[in-house]
Amino acid sequence: MNGMLQPKSVAVIGASATEGKIGHTVMVNLQESKYEGPIYPINPKTERILGIKCYKSVLDVEGLIDAAIITVPAKFVSNIVDECGKKGVKGLLVITSGFSEVGDEALEEEIVKKAHSYGMRVLGPNIVGICSNSDNFNGSFAPFLPYDGSASLVSQSGALLIGIDAQTYTRGIGFDKLISIGNMSDVNFADMIEWLDQDQNTSCISLYVEGLKDGKRVIDNGIKAKKPIIALKSGVSAHGAAAAASHTGSLAGTSKIYKSAFAQAGIIQASDLDNLFDRTLVLSLQPPMIGDNVLIITNGGGVGVLATDSAEKFGVPLKFAPENLQAELKNYMPSFGSAKNPVDLTGMAGADWYHDTVSIGFKHEWVNGLVILYCETAMTDPLAIAKSIKKAVEETGIEDKPIIVSFVGGERSEKAMRWLVENGIPAYGGPDVALNAMGALKEYAHIRESSKQKPELFDDVNKEKAIKIIQKARKENRDALTEIESKQVFSAYGLDITHAKIATSEEKALSLAEEIGFPIVMKIVSPDILHKSDAGGVKVDVNSVDDVKKFYNEIIENAKAYKKDAEILGVVIQEMAPWGTEVILGSVNDPTFGPTVMFGLGGIFVEVLKDVTFRVAPFSKMQANEMMNEIEAAPILNGVRGEAPKDKKKLNETICRYAFMVSDLKEEISESDANPVLVYDKGDGLKVADARIILTKR
Ligand code: ACO
Repeated sequence: MNGMLQPKSVAVIGASATEGKIGHTVMVNLQESKYEGPIYPINPKTERILGIKCYKSVLDVEGLIDAAIITVPAKFVSNIVDECGKKGVKGLLVITSGFSEVGDEALEEEIVKKAHSYGMRVLGPNIVGICSNSDNFNGSFAPFLPYDGSASLVSQSGALLIGIDAQTYTRGIGFDKLISIGNMSDVNFADMIEWLDQDQNTSCISLYVEGLKDGKRVIDNGIKAKKPIIALKSGVSAHGAAAAASHTGSLAGTSKIYKSAFAQAGIIQASDLDNLFDRTLVLSLQPPMIGDNVLIITNGGGVGVLATDSAEKFGVPLKFAPENLQAELKNYMPSFGSAKNPVDLTGMAGADWYHDTVSIGFKHEWVNGLVILYCETAMTDPLAIAKSIKKAVEETGIEDKPIIVSFVGGERSEKAMRWLVENGIPAYGGPDVALNAMGALKEYAHIRESSKQKPELFDDVNKEKAIKIIQKARKENRDALTEIESKQVFSAYGLDITHAKIATSEEKALSLAEEIGFPIVMKIVSPDILHKSDAGGVKVDVNSVDDVKKFYNEIIENAKAYKKDAEILGVVIQEMAPWGTEVILGSVNDPTFGPTVMFGLGGIFVEVLKDVTFRVAPFSKMQANEMMNEIEAAPILNGVRGEAPKDKKKLNETICRYAFMVSDLKEEISESDANPVLVYDKGDGLKVADARIILTKR
């Protein structure tokens, strides 16, 4: 990887003397970026390119070659890989298009297989290349090295990378490396996170992601990373939802799972390209915000109010500053100013007042993050204000607290903000953007801590029993377990289920009802009917012998009417659990991340509002807690309108056990639902009232 991404020598295979060709542009870029290592153009028809001696093949080059940049048409690439392998090249940057992106997976696999057989890594194919300021290396056909800075970007879109490259100058946001990752035939995002985390010139990692190939490793490497990572994910369609067999499957859209998986990996998400730049800037220059207290200092009431609104929106709501801080600040404002928070220095504020209040605010132990707002006035010089802010911050010597600035003004303000960014203080034109950035620093502090918690694993489970139940169903060529079997599997993993037995005759139904005790629930058992209520196959609160007789036959008739050829195995007679708050737990085997658990409140919350959340299994207690707290309906679990709080401790354990179960049985379970789970008051536990497991296809 090092040889390929930071080469000491490069060959350009398909280097061309013809202007306008990619093989020519790469040569020009290498020279213009003042690349210091030897450059070996390879082209059988040419003697010299841009004054450099040209070789017919890499095998003719006397010196060592770290990286080969390939710019010949796809049909020639395979032979070139062989030659590079024989030459001992370390890695291939394959700019050439025409592989899996146009359906030729076989050719792509062939070049990776060959490359690996020689110990070479492959970046691409279908890439723009790599730009690196710290290596003076523009091994790409992007127009120039990016505006210099300490963030590094990995982009799955080549065109977007080129656009971003140019925008780094107009936005004044600096990057050390821009890396185009293309089809990810070999090197993928997980590799890049690992590598950039070790790169001494990268302070923060930015990703533009269309889809991940090795999601689980991205999560693992994200958790291990010491540097902040920000991802912009495009493509938010709910793939596969229509075909999903379980409830959970139909609610699991790609974007929701990606969102949760990124958070689990400690990766901050960006909402759009602007936000990717803005968040990259703040995370590349400032430490995380640890704590809840943001202090805003402003010279204008209007921007102060706008910032207050945004603070709430972006998860850093303002509180009044403590009395002793207010008292100190009051010395630096007129009597009509305000020291509460936002601290309003009024339009009279000049560089001195900014200096002194920033100094007091930044040093105060209550303050966890400082936002400085300034509206350009005729009496003040934005650059002087910027310099006074920087000076005050520097004098405090504090490096573990963030500061963010927003200047609202014209060209003079723009210039001052550039100066601030060049001097390590992120500055934005809008107060909302500044507060979004502070929100990102707080979110980063939180998800970094949360992502490092160990997942809950359980050793009191009976996997053998679960596998036996599954094997029996497989032998009978079934790809779904019955409700009773599903509950037995849940029970083997320590989940509290409602007891149920199956009746295959009216008489058996009666004797089971008497054994379990009224009231009971009766439900159809058929591998062909997954949505039992829709089929008229569920009767609750059955209270008498007469009703058992009546409903037994009615349920079977309803099922037959619903699906003529449905195989009917009988009717479940189940204890009627007392009413509780209905929640739903479920799982899907996501193609990118593997087993993923869904949680939400039942009924309309899940059916209509789709108020659900996901986590890749297994996960920690802290993450199970986050799941309970982040759904819109969360307050219901805390007890509303005089109701007692629900048993969140038991629910937390149940969510963790469920996650452990679906990850422990990932080869077997494709989708599952526990719906409803009835949660009782604090201390009274819960019951899984219905269960469904769909098996993986064999
Ligand atoms: N060894 C060395 N040189 C060779 C060999 C070989 N085996 N075979 C051919 N060449 C030379 C050619 O003679 C030519 O040199 P010349 O100009 O002196 O004649 C040079 O290699 C290039 O070959 P061409 O056939 O002229 O190919 P061209 O330059 O038109 O296209 C390219 C090659 C750029 C790789 C093209 O096939 C391609 O894939 N283009 C798309 C690349 C791309 O966009 N990638 C990023 C995707 S992301 C985004 O969309 C921005």
